[in-house]
Amino acid sequence: MCGIVGYIGTKKASPILINGLIRLEYRGYDSAGISTIENDGLSVMKDKGRVKNLYNLEGIDDLEGTVGIAHTRWATHGKPSKENSHPHMDNSKTFSCVHNGIIENYNELRNFLTDNGYTFYSQTDTEVVPNLIHYYYSKDTKNDDLKFLRAVKSACNDLKGSFALEIICKEYPDNMIVVRKDSPLVIGKGEDENYISSDIPAILSFTRDFYLLNDLEFALLSRNEAKFFDKDLNPIKKAIKNIEWDASSAEKDGFEDYMLKEIYEQPNAIRETIGAKFNGNSKCEFDELNFSKEYLQSLNKIYIVACGTAMHAGLSARSTIEKLCKIPTEVDIASEFRYRDPLVDEKTLCIFISQSGETADTIAALKLCKEKKAKTLTITNVIGSSITREADYSIYTHAGPEIAVASTKAYTSQVVLLNILAIYFAEILGINSNMILELKKSILELPKKIEETLKVSEKVKDFAKKVYNEKDIFFLGRGIDEVVAREGSLKLKEISYIHSESYAAGELKHGPIALIEKDITVIGIMTDSKLVEKTVSNLQEVITRGAKTMVITNQDIDSSSFEFVINIPSTHTFVSPILSIIPLQLFSYYIAKEKGLDVDKPRNLAKSVTVE
Ligand code: M6R
Repeated sequence: MCGIVGYIGTKKASPILINGLIRLEYRGYDSAGISTIENDGLSVMKDKGRVKNLYNLEGIDDLEGTVGIAHTRWATHGKPSKENSHPHMDNSKTFSCVHNGIIENYNELRNFLTDNGYTFYSQTDTEVVPNLIHYYYSKDTKNDDLKFLRAVKSACNDLKGSFALEIICKEYPDNMIVVRKDSPLVIGKGEDENYISSDIPAILSFTRDFYLLNDLEFALLSRNEAKFFDKDLNPIKKAIKNIEWDASSAEKDGFEDYMLKEIYEQPNAIRETIGAKFNGNSKCEFDELNFSKEYLQSLNKIYIVACGTAMHAGLSARSTIEKLCKIPTEVDIASEFRYRDPLVDEKTLCIFISQSGETADTIAALKLCKEKKAKTLTITNVIGSSITREADYSIYTHAGPEIAVASTKAYTSQVVLLNILAIYFAEILGINSNMILELKKSILELPKKIEETLKVSEKVKDFAKKVYNEKDIFFLGRGIDEVVAREGSLKLKEISYIHSESYAAGELKHGPIALIEKDITVIGIMTDSKLVEKTVSNLQEVITRGAKTMVITNQDIDSSSFEFVINIPSTHTFVSPILSIIPLQLFSYYIAKEKGLDVDKPRNLAKSVTVE
């Protein structure tokens, strides 16, 4: 995890760096720090806690340097503390470095450096990096423009694990070096300046022109130039990628929190995601895919692999693929899938879903499937993210930047895109069914229906106010609604810290009903006409045992026994999660607000989980 920012230009670096860190705080907020090149050498200022603490550090306003690096930390090696905060310097204070990722062989490197006279002041894996750079630098007898770069490259040769690194050197005050392997990092190009960041939104207000680095490519940056090198330091050319995202879409736009803004952005996110692939009158188009009928017919199985909410999106779309395309489809958690030696070969299509495109387990699962000769397709929201560089095919949700740790608009965009993908496969396979026509119609109606669903907000808030002090909340559903129950429960846990469980409603009487007692809160989701009566019966069973119930439904039910009923528009069952999850997103949001919690940055969590 962790977020890194860098600046090399003509302006004072420190305010730019702190501003960038604030936008990257969703990646970690255990400690923060900056390092700049000043007239008298390198300065490092850092502290435990949130980025805003940097403003209070004595002397921070006196930093005049126009070259600097910065870091916000999600602790892996070493507790959150000042000494474990980045930036880290080498013993001679010649190099300063920030790092996102994990150096797996840091113990070995630490021993090697200790044997060579180096001392360590932190418990981090990162501190080996500036010292290793210094080790190689001091051994290099050639004093030319590339000495700094050669030392960084030699150090990187020794590193195992993942890293996005920014390094500055007091002997090269007009340069900065950045390199990445399996951790995100982008370079934004300005006029006589370059910006570096872990993600694009953090620096979108400065530039829309970006260089994207592949694994083990080095960038030697000066104010007006960016030179690129491959892993052997051969010069390479990089094209600039222009990003269309609007800087204001990465801001809060008057909403109290990013999460609420992102919930309300769903009509547009879905509109954009649909519009990119399907205009309603024609077939669904994926120009970036070249799947033939023969290839799709040859498939024994489709695997969908992802983590957390992205995995729930996969589960939400499994039936669409199976029912429309008649291809068996399995959905798995990336961190489990990779360790169970899955049956994958060239007759398997493996789909990986990741909002950030940086989730370590999902990327590792993708690499495994490639080794096993399967075709790999990724669905992500972030152009140029690490996963897109590994996958055979990448398709994008058009949800815009998602900043809140709790995923909302990315999930609904993933569900709609997976449904469109299923239609695309079915059309290639020559399947023409009424089901496809009905589904297409329902997809096109979604943006309007989401707008309508959002109107339930006040009613959901009233229920949240009643139950925000609860210790346990249960979610029940059947079929597609069971997946929504899982996602609703995850949302609630992660931002409200209330213990919650989701169950397939029919499983209740096989054990979990023992947990139901007077005044416990149970939430039922019922959107499938074929299953609604059964779920109503299960809810009656909990009401009989004293439960308070909130029901989310698009069905015509007798609502007299439920405490709260949230009516949502009806739609095709395949895409119903896109509507039924919205009241649950709002529910967890309002509960967290009632409890006075930091909705966007829940404790212990980070937006991108770039460690395994
Ligand atoms: O970026 P990714 O979609 O790969 O992230 C996967 C999960 O970490 C993510 O969905 C997580 O579960 C969210 N915080 C849930 O709201």
